[in-house]
Amino acid sequence: MNTAAALAGRWPGVAAAPSPNEGDVAIDIRGLSFRPPSRNRDAVEILSGIDLAVRQREFIAIVGPSGCGKSTLLNFVAGLLPVQSGQVTVRGQGGQAPSLGYVFQQHGLLPWRTAQKNVELGLEIAGLPVPQRQERARAMLAQMGLAGYERHYPRELSGGMRQRVALAKTLVTEPQVVLMDEPFGALDAQTRVAVQSLFAEFWTRHRATVLFVTHDIDEALLLADRVVVMGARPGRIVAQYTVPTARPRSHHQLRQQPAFNELYDTLWNDIAHLAQDAGRPAARRPS
Ligand SMILES: Nc1ncnc2c1ncn2[C@@H]1O[C@H](COP(=O)(O)OP(=O)(O)OP(=O)(O)O)[C@@H](O)[C@H]1O
Ligand SMILES: [Mg+2]
Repeated sequence: MNTAAALAGRWPGVAAAPSPNEGDVAIDIRGLSFRPPSRNRDAVEILSGIDLAVRQREFIAIVGPSGCGKSTLLNFVAGLLPVQSGQVTVRGQGGQAPSLGYVFQQHGLLPWRTAQKNVELGLEIAGLPVPQRQERARAMLAQMGLAGYERHYPRELSGGMRQRVALAKTLVTEPQVVLMDEPFGALDAQTRVAVQSLFAEFWTRHRATVLFVTHDIDEALLLADRVVVMGARPGRIVAQYTVPTARPRSHHQLRQQPAFNELYDTLWNDIAHLAQDAGRPAARRPS
């Protein structure tokens, strides 16, 4: 059976998200398919018929099994991969050209620049005078809990610290559209909760349009307006859910809410079934 139909039938109680009006759309993906160039004519289709309209200032989390094409989808939105089939449009707020930030799955820092100089990079490109860019970069590093590490090179930082520098480097330029690929995946549990709150605050202040890939359902529900579930082989959207909870949110508050717990279970089951369909062992839901 087609997985989308199967999922719709399995959990009829949770409504799928409505589509936004066209004028309000920041990221418009229509019929996006991708088959990588290959000498083998039977090369697998990586993405198939992706349709997704993201509102201006909307926060979308994307979840789905490993290898389903989440990073590939972000690379199309960033313009790093040329569109072969379908359409991808990114629009700025109020008709402006969109400024775009990307936090990669691997931190993407320049190894020859210190943490401070990495964070300054975007501001330098934007032509901000030296004292202002130094001050903003220093303040952003401090917000990420990295005061005192300004002069360290990426090789002298832990994996979690590098990831926080990468986050600071992206957010310091206050982009209108932010693409984030498992940005907190390398952080320990405590730092992760702290950085999630920092990022939630940043988003509340700046209200960027965000596409955020994560394997962590709690994180998706803590941060997003809408959660998009992708399935694999080929990568496609199988379900979308609006997060029914007002902000600000905390892990603790969310646990108390039946609507949150119901959506958590739904997403857990969706992902478990998709993993099973892909021939992977299904994990038990943590209690
Ligand atoms: N340019 C390319 N050429 C060939 N295959 C590719 C290309 N880009 C991605 N793939 C393949 O596409 C599939 C999806 O990869 P992608 O990195 O987007 O998955 P993902 O959902 O981000 O996985 P993960 O959760 O493990 O990060 C994988 O099978 C990968 O090998
Ligand atoms: Mg990925």
